[in-house]
Amino acid sequence: MTPILETKNLVKVYKVGKVETPALRGVSLSVQKGDFVAIMGQSGCGKSTLLHLLGGLLSPTSGEILIDGEDISNISDAKRTDIRRRKIGFVFQRFNLFPTLTADGNLRLAERIHIGNGKGNPEKRREILRVLKLENKMNSKPLELSGGEQQRVALARAVINSPAIILADEPTGNLDTQNSEIVLDMFAELNQRFGQTIIMITHNPEAARHCGRIIQMRDGHIVGPED
Ligand SMILES: Nc1ncnc2c1ncn2[C@@H]1O[C@H](COP(=O)(O)OP(=O)(O)O)[C@@H](O)[C@H]1O
Ligand SMILES: [Mg+2]
Repeated sequence: MTPILETKNLVKVYKVGKVETPALRGVSLSVQKGDFVAIMGQSGCGKSTLLHLLGGLLSPTSGEILIDGEDISNISDAKRTDIRRRKIGFVFQRFNLFPTLTADGNLRLAERIHIGNGKGNPEKRREILRVLKLENKMNSKPLELSGGEQQRVALARAVINSPAIILADEPTGNLDTQNSEIVLDMFAELNQRFGQTIIMITHNPEAARHCGRIIQMRDGHIVGPED
């Protein structure tokens, strides 16, 4: 079966002035549809760089990235943006919600970015908010929500356009234990009930336990399932 996501010898070197920082030193990875993968490793080892490359937010110095068999490493920024909008849902440590929009409004905005103008699909928004136990928070703005609720709205926003892959960069990094647990349960439920493919960076071994597979990174390399 074609992997939903694959990298071949991925290298990323950041250049700032004359300073070069090698962040990824040859990462080869294969993820199948329905996988729930945790990426772990010390700060600075290249986790976020890898995630940003996987999602088409950055282009690699060398190597290949294939999403659903489609090579995104050597294409124009415009084309990469298009693939990202169609196939990827991002969840970040900072929830990045629009403060002046309600939960439902934040989802509608994501729909608009995806499909252009129009009303989107109110039933689908309601269903996703229901699955994430936010049905009574539809009309609340971010500041009226707890951290865990805000992150669940961000998760709803990431899945509203049915992305092939969700990429999450320390999604529980700003949450207390209880809210982390709720958010992780939601990730697990999306994975189990809907076969959602998820790749999640985390520092938390507890969080990684929700995942079927753990990838350990060190110094720009994948060093295997265990460190
Ligand atoms: N935009 C950037 N410009 C220059 N160096 C960067 C940039 N982003 C990350 N780096 C460097 O690349 C390395 C890997 O960073 P990162 O991927 O953020 O690691 P992690 O997410 O595992 O903490 C670090 O040495 C970091 O300082
Ligand atoms: Mg990081």
